[in-house]
Amino acid sequence: MEQKKRVLSGIQPTGDMHFGNYFGAVKNWVELQEKYDCVYTVVDYHAMTMPYNPKKLRENTWDLIFNLLSTGIRAENLCIQSLVPEHAELCWILNCFTSYGLLTRMTQFKDKSAQSAEDSGDGFISAGLFGYPVLQAADILIYRADYVPIGKDQEQHLELTRNIAQRFNNQVGKEYFILPEPLFTKVLKVRSTADPERKMSKSLGEKHYINVFGEEARIRKQVRSAVTDTGDTPAGEMSPGVENLFLLLEAAGKMDTHKELMATYQAGELKYVDLKDAVADALVEISTAFRERKAELNANKKEVKNQIKAASAEIRKRAQETVREVKELTGLQNVRF
Ligand code: TRP
Repeated sequence: MEQKKRVLSGIQPTGDMHFGNYFGAVKNWVELQEKYDCVYTVVDYHAMTMPYNPKKLRENTWDLIFNLLSTGIRAENLCIQSLVPEHAELCWILNCFTSYGLLTRMTQFKDKSAQSAEDSGDGFISAGLFGYPVLQAADILIYRADYVPIGKDQEQHLELTRNIAQRFNNQVGKEYFILPEPLFTKVLKVRSTADPERKMSKSLGEKHYINVFGEEARIRKQVRSAVTDTGDTPAGEMSPGVENLFLLLEAAGKMDTHKELMATYQAGELKYVDLKDAVADALVEISTAFRERKAELNANKKEVKNQIKAASAEIRKRAQETVREVKELTGLQNVRF
């Protein structure tokens, strides 16, 4: 039997999961589990690279775990990065195979360092933020992943990962690391309901994203106040706000309603309130199912946490094997105590 290809992805525990995260990444992760051997990791080491609060980090990590489980990610495919400390160990080793020059060209560092300087209040930018992409490379290479489902914003990081793997392989004289490929699946890019010119994102502020696990009333309110027409759209073109609402319907799988309302739109008879109601219903339906599932998981909090710790321990075995082999190849001591 052919072995399943391996998929790896990571997600930062930064608080609320919004519909942009869900439709743009997590929903796809759930589906990939059918076809691939998947490891998904909540990257708490990465979350330390920006100014942060330790108590919140721990809370957000578990909250994200519960959210991911509620959306259909299977416990056995899920681990917490800091429960697999070999990520950090491999990161150090890979640092020594990473070109400093390439790291200085990472565009995400440019954005995030400006953000860090602002958030910290004293201009602080950590070296961890600079080394962030090397830790990401370690996440991927440690499991010998074949594919990484990513958006365009992470392409440069994956390219760097391949460069590090290649340099490592050349230096040790062995095709040890697999060069991972991006997996660009068709995902829908949801935009902010308050400013549909921009991607839905937490960093824009509360008005701009719809929390998947939010209260029904809040979801409805946010959809109702979504920007539709600002009057700047040329005649005959659909405004970005209306387009985004149709996109949400499509993402939610409501194709019949989508078709119907689109026909009405084309006939010039669409009332935005009808479109908004349809979108709100669709999002509430998804949210309600997830929230019910989350309540069940929360009722067994301790067992669920233990399950994730056990899954992390199981996944860790693969990481340990890689690190042992890497230590062997790089001249480090490799003794099992
Ligand atoms: N850098 C990714 C992001 O900001 C998160 C991440 C960390 C990741 N490690 C990863 C993504 C490994 C894919 C593979 O979204």
